[in-house]
Amino acid sequence: MERKPVVIGVAGGSGSGKTSVTKALYENFKGHSIMMIEQDYYYKDQSDLPLEERLKTNYDHPLAFDNDLLIEHLNQLLRYEPIEKPVYDYTIHTRSNEVVHVEPKDVIILEGILILEDERLRELMDIKLYVDTDADLRIIRRLLRDIKERGRSMDSVIEQYVNVVRPMHNQFIEPTKRYADIIIPEGGHNRVAIDLMVTKIQTILEQKSFL
Ligand code: C5P
Repeated sequence: MERKPVVIGVAGGSGSGKTSVTKALYENFKGHSIMMIEQDYYYKDQSDLPLEERLKTNYDHPLAFDNDLLIEHLNQLLRYEPIEKPVYDYTIHTRSNEVVHVEPKDVIILEGILILEDERLRELMDIKLYVDTDADLRIIRRLLRDIKERGRSMDSVIEQYVNVVRPMHNQFIEPTKRYADIIIPEGGHNRVAIDLMVTKIQTILEQKSFL
C-alpha cells in the first residue's frame, strides 16, 4: 500500500475548544510523526492594506482565507514534501514577514473555524471532527483569550462578536457540522471523545503500518 499521511480535520467555532482537542491528540502521539496546521495562519496576506482597512476585514468569512495556498501546502505534505508555513500576527491583522520551514509527517492535524466549508479541503481529510460548544462558553473563552493574547480591548471583542463573529458562525461555521464524521461536545474537556479519537487514529496508523 502506498504510504500517505493521515489528515485529521478539527473544525468548530471560535472559542469552542478546537485547539484543546488538537493539542490533546497531538500530545497523545508525541514522539510519533505528527504535526499541526492552523487554518488561521493562512489568512490572506493584507500587508499592502493600511491598518484601518485591516481592522474592518471580516475574518470569519470563508473569503478571508487563502485556502489555495493551504491546499497547495497540504498536497505537498501528502507527497512528503516540506512546506514554508506562513506566520500570522493577530495584533497587526496580517501575515508576518517570516515563514516557518515544516517537515512532512505521517499524521497531520488541520485545525480551523472554516476547514469543513471548502469541499477541496474536506476531500483531503481522512477524519473530520466538529467541536460543538455552546455560544455562551465560546464568547467567554474568546473574550479572555483575545484580551490576554491578541491585544484586544473588551469593547472591541464584544463589538466584533455581535456584529461579525456570531452572524458568520451561524451562516458559515455551524452548517459545516453536517460534514463531520464525529461531533465532539465540549471540546478539550471531553476526555471520552478524545480517548475514542486516539484509539481510532491508532487503528488507522496501524493499518498503514506507521506504528
Ligand atoms: O483561534 P480561533 O478559531 O478563535 O480564530 C479564529 C478567529 O480569529 C475568527 O473568529 C476571527 O474573528 C478572529 N480573527 C481576528 N482578527 C484577525 C484574524 C482573525 O479577530 N486579524
